[in-house]
Amino acid sequence: MNDKSSNIEALDLKDSVAEKRKYNVLNVQDARKVTRTWLESIDLSQAISLGLPEIDDRYHFWRVPLLSQDTHERVGEVVIDAYTSLLLREKSTSPDVLETRLLKRKTKKKKQSPKKKTYRPSNLRNTIACGAAEQILQDFPAESVDLIFTSPPYFNARPEYEDYISYEEYLLKMKQVIQACHRVLNEGRFFVINISPVLVRRANRSESSKRLAVPFDMHRLFIEEGFDFIDDIIWVKPEGAGWATGRGRRFAADRNPLQYKPVPVTEYVLVYRKHTRRLIDWNIRS
Ligand SMILES: C[S@@+](CC[C@H](N)C(=O)[O-])C[C@H]1O[C@@H](n2cnc3c(N)ncnc32)[C@H](O)[C@@H]1O
Repeated sequence: MNDKSSNIEALDLKDSVAEKRKYNVLNVQDARKVTRTWLESIDLSQAISLGLPEIDDRYHFWRVPLLSQDTHERVGEVVIDAYTSLLLREKSTSPDVLETRLLKRKTKKKKQSPKKKTYRPSNLRNTIACGAAEQILQDFPAESVDLIFTSPPYFNARPEYEDYISYEEYLLKMKQVIQACHRVLNEGRFFVINISPVLVRRANRSESSKRLAVPFDMHRLFIEEGFDFIDDIIWVKPEGAGWATGRGRRFAADRNPLQYKPVPVTEYVLVYRKHTRRLIDWNIRS
């Protein structure tokens, strides 16, 4: 570490959480020191370098990332009790796992740092396009869209939105839409989708209704099509939404756990990012 960064870390220490809580391990240098001593004791100090230690002030721990000296990839972490300065072995990556990961990483090729790329603003004019997304998006140039936000049909929740022959056919259509969206979306940009499980109503009284976990099947499609998962925001629907089906009233009346039936009161707003090796900060900078 150079003098400049030690000065910054020393400044950060002033009024820091560690100081206020009277931790024994006060700063990143202290946390690194404890870690290095341990690495020396297990003969791994030459093979491992240290990332930036961070305070987990909920549990009063310091967490120190352990990186492979060769590839700079993360191979584990060390957890230190901030009050006692003891290294917590049961919470830290074990020496065996570290060794195995280091051996595996050695055979891997070194990562190339991403080439400098400047962000190109879209040259599309504001456009309202009417049609089936999977087709109409073919007319759009690649990487010309900065954000996708959609609420697709939830399988056959409402026939007026679209009537699919089968759930498989629905998922195939969604896969085509996600694929088309991936092509037009700019690198590292977000795709936000509102989706929810649906109830397939029973055809007659001797059959059960069926609930389909649409968001979880959809998640797999996003990953397959080259998106990274960012967040699952839970949208709590207005009071009364799920209870209106009568199911909630039924359970409230009996309180019988064997009579469990879902009472949906939430939906998902799933957030994905078109895969890139660039940090999210790159989106902001460019
Ligand atoms: C759950 S609704 C979303 C409603 C919308 N958020 C709104 O407030 O009007 C699904 C919508 O997707 C439309 N839709 C169905 N298949 C589509 C497709 N292949 N491409 C584009 N839109 C489609 C339906 O017509 C319906 O309006």
